[in-house]
Amino acid sequence: MAKRDYLTLDDFDYRGKTVLLRVDINSPIDPKTKKITNENRIVESLPTIRELVNRRAKLVIIAHQGDTLDYQNLISLKEHAEKLSQKLGQKVQFIDDVAGPAAREKIKNLKEGEALLLDNLRFLSEEASTFEDAVKLTPEELTHTYLVRNIAPLVDYYVNDAFAAAHRKAPSMVAFQELLPSAAGKLYDKEVTALTTVLEDPKRPCVFLLGGAKISDAFSMMGKALAEGSADYVLTAGLTGQVMHLALGKRLGSPSEKLITDRGLEKFIEPAKKYLGDYAGKLRVPLDFAVDDSGKRRNITVDELPVDRLIIDIGPKTVEEYGEILRQAGTIFVNGPVGIYEQEIGAYGTKELWKIIGEASGYSVIGGGDTVASATRLGDLPRINHVSTGGGALIRFLSGVKLPLVEAMKKARLRWQGAS
Ligand code: 3PG
Repeated sequence: MAKRDYLTLDDFDYRGKTVLLRVDINSPIDPKTKKITNENRIVESLPTIRELVNRRAKLVIIAHQGDTLDYQNLISLKEHAEKLSQKLGQKVQFIDDVAGPAAREKIKNLKEGEALLLDNLRFLSEEASTFEDAVKLTPEELTHTYLVRNIAPLVDYYVNDAFAAAHRKAPSMVAFQELLPSAAGKLYDKEVTALTTVLEDPKRPCVFLLGGAKISDAFSMMGKALAEGSADYVLTAGLTGQVMHLALGKRLGSPSEKLITDRGLEKFIEPAKKYLGDYAGKLRVPLDFAVDDSGKRRNITVDELPVDRLIIDIGPKTVEEYGEILRQAGTIFVNGPVGIYEQEIGAYGTKELWKIIGEASGYSVIGGGDTVASATRLGDLPRINHVSTGGGALIRFLSGVKLPLVEAMKKARLRWQGAS
């Protein structure tokens, strides 16, 4: 295993100290009731919270919810505090203030072993992703933001456990490390360890199964994995598998081609041709598909293309071939369902492959909202070795992009190692 390039919880003694913990408990919200519909990130944040409380820290938790791009989910963290309290078996106090006088007063009055959640960081403009896109500031410059100026003087240590937001350069993610001894939490450690294994030291053969509708994600991950040799096989499905066939000169038929053009995805045909040329044998394409035939599923071979029906899934021959490769894999990484699994007639491929992956002996890592949702619904999630909490952060990590949080934690190690 690669050596850690960040400090961990074990590097400091938190007894009686005020610790600022950044988590990512950004959760899906029901549009009508405004209630949390999936608690996964809350559950995954508990081990670090529990450990810091048990180690008698005065714990201040900060987190975001929603974004200014999607105002529907930009709600208070009150329910998150209630859920954390229930699951921790201890009250997590809450204050509807982020870094103003009320929040600061509450922090000053915390006792050892107590935990407090401040309100949604994205109520501050400087924490919204639109801010970082518009105003390019260094982590050092971000120490002058309202949040850091107000909170850092009240705190002894900073811990970051928000791997899922690692692609964000918000003050709460990268600036406190400039001022305070800083460690990574347990979830950050678990995520980075699992994903680094996939990228740098996978047990062979290492197989990437890339489906879903987000072709740009699939292409950036496959580019890195194939060029650097971390993947021995890339199995394509979903819209990516269809674009591969266009690159091979096939016509899919007007309903499927229209979907691809409407989403502006024809631009991936040229890179697909290049990958197919450079990595023949490693890069696999579907052998058959299923189409929606007036509400009924109909399997078709590739030779039957083009077809005047929408492609909704891969077919049984592809499941058989991909299944064989997955059974023999030493490492499996999955991003994206292979078909429109939400519809009964499009769920076969996704369901079968989750079954095979669940039974396979290789080390399995999955991530991304739709992937985890499909595995939860059609697979056996506990049989997956690592279920990443990351969406955008996971894709970027596996595409070789330098993530602001990862860089900040590396720098913090050099700066704060041995500090107490
Ligand atoms: C996520 O949901 O991927 C993280 O919480 C980051 O959210 P963002 O993409 O809105 O910054």
